[in-house]
Amino acid sequence: MPTARQSRAGVINCDLGMSKPFDIELERLTSQASYSEIARGVAAGQRGTFFLETFGCQMNDHDSEKVAGLLLSRGYQQVETPEAASLILYNTCSIREKAAQKVFSRLGEYREKQNEGKVIGVLGCVAQQEGEEIFERAPWVSLVCGSASYRKLPDMLTQLEAGNQRVTGLDTDTDATFETEVTRRDNPWRAYLTIIEGCDKACSYCVVPFTRGPERSRGSDSILKEVRQLAELGYSEVQLLGQTVNSYADPTPRKMRFSELLLAVADVQGVRRVRFTTSHPSDFTPDIVEAIEEQPKICDHVHLPVQSGSTRVLRAMQRTYSREVYLEKIAMMRDANRPIAITTDIIVGFPGETEFEFEETLSLLDEVQYDNLFSFKYSPRPNTPSLSMSDSMSEEEKGRRLAVLQDRQREIQSAKNARLVGKRFEVLVSGKSRRENQWSGYTTSHRMINFASQERELLGTYVQVRVTGAGPNSLLGDHAV
Ligand code: 5AD
Ligand code: SF4
Repeated sequence: MPTARQSRAGVINCDLGMSKPFDIELERLTSQASYSEIARGVAAGQRGTFFLETFGCQMNDHDSEKVAGLLLSRGYQQVETPEAASLILYNTCSIREKAAQKVFSRLGEYREKQNEGKVIGVLGCVAQQEGEEIFERAPWVSLVCGSASYRKLPDMLTQLEAGNQRVTGLDTDTDATFETEVTRRDNPWRAYLTIIEGCDKACSYCVVPFTRGPERSRGSDSILKEVRQLAELGYSEVQLLGQTVNSYADPTPRKMRFSELLLAVADVQGVRRVRFTTSHPSDFTPDIVEAIEEQPKICDHVHLPVQSGSTRVLRAMQRTYSREVYLEKIAMMRDANRPIAITTDIIVGFPGETEFEFEETLSLLDEVQYDNLFSFKYSPRPNTPSLSMSDSMSEEEKGRRLAVLQDRQREIQSAKNARLVGKRFEVLVSGKSRRENQWSGYTTSHRMINFASQERELLGTYVQVRVTGAGPNSLLGDHAV
């Protein structure tokens, strides 16, 4: 989950540190339209160089792909270090305080360098949340731009070139971010695609409704057109993205339901896998499970954040479902005629969470038997309703609860993965280890598997792998012929 990554110039990052030169892959990485636009931009010459570092979730990763494509198409060149860049951009995350602090500590590194002629810009959630206050805290920053305003970036840069000291783009009510014709995708086999922006839920701890604005769904015709382009370019896995991806509401007259969209994407020739994340339990309806049952190309993995196993805490979190209702959604998946891997997010130490309520979360883990878990200590965030609740639990106690939770889940995952030894899975190979004959990739249920093969080139292909060993977080295997 949230880690800092660099969108590195000219390099495609693979899971095991393998990399490929960008120029070879440029055409495959972009849609037809974007390729020619990016190529034109590169040919147009050196507007300048940019360095882009991304924090946070997959939505931010994908936003950075859009920003990189946009800048490349305008003649900027991407470089690997801030030192080599005339434009330094941070695409930021503010979901927890630590993530936001990390950005300010990065910005702090430029305190002494403000006269070196570099333009420093803050993009994404911290930009949206802090707005012009960023200029107060870090006066050497000259550009602040939220995720709904990326299309304005070239104009904003032109304004800076024309002598403006500070420029901002802080809209939240536009669907402009959906225009992805110049996206430069980092992964040559799996394409992210945003289908819904923003969030209309009002979880009491969460900044997303403030930083990404209200829910806006992209038209199904435009989504399917892009999927067809991606498939023609050789992307075989498509991952549909949204904060609440299954709340998708098609604005076109076709009014496709989310499950219909999944099926339509899977029907596109060349698409072998369809993933989607993140689902909200309240909008998780039986037709989604039926689509997974019906169409094997739709991956057998659902990320369904529960946040807490206590109905009282869920109510305080404004999560709009109880423990019982959540468990009904789980039962729906467990009853499917195809096993479905289920992963979740949990927050420990929400204001007022008692020891008993925390234990309810532990018992939920036992009951659901998740395949993976992302867990966080509660972090009070600006503008959120839970900010006014007393956050009196010590960091030490939050840390203890987190460790207990993670230990319990590690045991569950170890036992579940051990039962997979001897089974065969189809794997999309996405990484090559520095160690000879060692590869890695993901199963449809999003299990990471490291495996041995004598083949010379497997990247981007689908192979059968027999599981020979298991740890809590990944599997070991052999290429099965
Ligand atoms: N504190 C801790 N964790 C949070 N998350 C969202 N907001 C907060 C917060 N204020 C977690 C939730 C969400 C995941 C992306 O981040 O578990 O599902
Ligand atoms: Fe945040 Fe809740 Fe929306 Fe998820 S559903 S982005 S946790 S407000």
